[in-house]
Amino acid sequence: TPLSHIRNFSIVAHIDHGKSTLADRLIQSTGTVADRDMKAQMLDSMDIERERGITIKAQTVRLDYVADNGEHYVLNLIDTPGHVDFAYEVSRSMRAVEGSLLVVDSTQGVEAQTLANVYHALDADHEIVPVLNKIDLPASECDRIATQIEDVIGIDASQAIRVSAKTGVGIKETLEAVVHRLPAPKGDRDAPLKAMLVDSWYDSYLGVVVLVRIIDGVIRLKDRVRFMSNDTVHLIDRLGVFKPGMLPMEELGPGEIGFFTAQIKEVRDTRVGDTITSERKGATVALPGFKPAQPVVFCGLFPVDSSEFEDLRSAIDKLALNDASFSFEMETSAALGFGFRCGFLGLLHLEVIRDRIEREYNIELITTAPSVVYHLYMKDGDVRDLHNPADMPDLTLVDHIEEPRIKATILVPDEYLGDVLKLCQDRRGVQMDLTYAGSRAMVVYDLPLNEVVFDFYDRLKSVTKGYASFDYNLTGYQEDSLVKMSVLVNDEPVDALSMMVHRDRAEMRGRAMVEKLKDLIPRHMFKIPIQAAIGGKVIARETLSALRKDVTAKCYGGDATRKRKLLDKQKAGKKKMRQFGKVDIPQEAFISALKMD
Ligand code: GTP
Repeated sequence: TPLSHIRNFSIVAHIDHGKSTLADRLIQSTGTVADRDMKAQMLDSMDIERERGITIKAQTVRLDYVADNGEHYVLNLIDTPGHVDFAYEVSRSMRAVEGSLLVVDSTQGVEAQTLANVYHALDADHEIVPVLNKIDLPASECDRIATQIEDVIGIDASQAIRVSAKTGVGIKETLEAVVHRLPAPKGDRDAPLKAMLVDSWYDSYLGVVVLVRIIDGVIRLKDRVRFMSNDTVHLIDRLGVFKPGMLPMEELGPGEIGFFTAQIKEVRDTRVGDTITSERKGATVALPGFKPAQPVVFCGLFPVDSSEFEDLRSAIDKLALNDASFSFEMETSAALGFGFRCGFLGLLHLEVIRDRIEREYNIELITTAPSVVYHLYMKDGDVRDLHNPADMPDLTLVDHIEEPRIKATILVPDEYLGDVLKLCQDRRGVQMDLTYAGSRAMVVYDLPLNEVVFDFYDRLKSVTKGYASFDYNLTGYQEDSLVKMSVLVNDEPVDALSMMVHRDRAEMRGRAMVEKLKDLIPRHMFKIPIQAAIGGKVIARETLSALRKDVTAKCYGGDATRKRKLLDKQKAGKKKMRQFGKVDIPQEAFISALKMD
């Protein structure tokens, strides 16, 4: 296809504004998928994505479209992940296309995620076509929302397309806008091959599948190509495009987006953002901006039932094949037995992997306190990385500790600003900037990553009713006064609950932790002391009194079903307990105890 007849685009939107529905409609109306094969949310493949409504891996589809002018166009739609943990992947996939449809729900207006995503698109120099969706609803207010888009985002919305992705109104106009308002890609067919690695994943039949955007040159079946980041060479044995099933092609030229396989064993050999060129007479300069994704949050994953350790190992092996940014190594814990220490891009990434293990592999897990990577400067001159608070050496051997800090950008409607500032302040944040965009404030904070990994995002969402958007990047390491806090239950240390904290906050955290544990651990036949300590010094203590009464005694009156329910609940709860010394600690205690209120 000549460059002038290719259009590459993505769709950016706030969650629930109709991105997936619009994509489905575009796929359907171009006849890419026969009506009878159409199912909702064609692009979201994993169950977990459907349930949580988040897209994790970029997906792509090629649409063949005959425009009103009678010309045939190839339209490549790349779907992008929409969460901060995957910001790097979002920015890479945005760089693989020239334009975006900005979908805004015309009954709701611009929201936080709209802004965060549109900034990624503007960063990638996209031409942006605003689309006002859900015009079939009586609450739709297109004029007002168009003005709001102009005020808040600062782009012209006078030509915004009015669409109902549900009924199909405006779909034709949207396709025409993609052709006439988005630019064609640029590229040189005769230059050495330069292709951007947009995404890769593991397919159990095909092995590693690589999604590429061709910038210059041509990639052909049976070509030998070089990955510039790690200087490996692979033979292309399958080449094609997604429609959305795989359609084989002999070659892909500049401006095109497609996939190949090349007997690559592991996803970790393919790095998002890498430049792929020909083995011989290849390009010498890589595309700008390649940076491998580094895990920044670590935690331990242990099976609740220790006999499932081997199952967990194989689940983790399989997931890692498909996710280069997920790292792991074996770990043993006195309290939890055998498990794995795993590294993630962020908290959502952690939750997604944990959910997939529990759901797809049916293994119940205990997750230990998430931790960041600390730099330990030892008195003997040695410098070490600390991934796990359990490995913290004796404090007398340590000269000083550095922790990672982030630059966090938060966009929030005015009325919630006070709460957001308080939250950041409480988390040891240093305010760097505060500006306004329409009725929204943009605050920039310098924050310690360790204050963000627990529940910062949850808290932010709850104090702003979901209206804040949050983005961050690591800025570097800084020395601070950090200590390891241990938790003892019935005088036994529970290593899975130990964590690194700032000295000034240790007592507060310790107190909150033991109070929570007191509520979370069921009473036993004996008294249980619960303590938080730094080194040998106890900083907080609670005592769980011994069990005397029947729990169901609480349900005065003789409501039998209620009693039944309570007993059933207890029984179910029982299965998820872990024994520590003589004490049973329920699985949820490990997660809940770490959340701050
Ligand atoms: P995520 O996948 O969760 O990020 O959301 P999304 O932006 O992809 O939204 P999705 O397409 O899942 O649509 C969200 C909800 O809005 C669904 O219940 C859709 O059926 C509904 N919806 C989408 N477009 C329209 C529309 O034009 N009119 C009406 N009435 N409902 C719509």
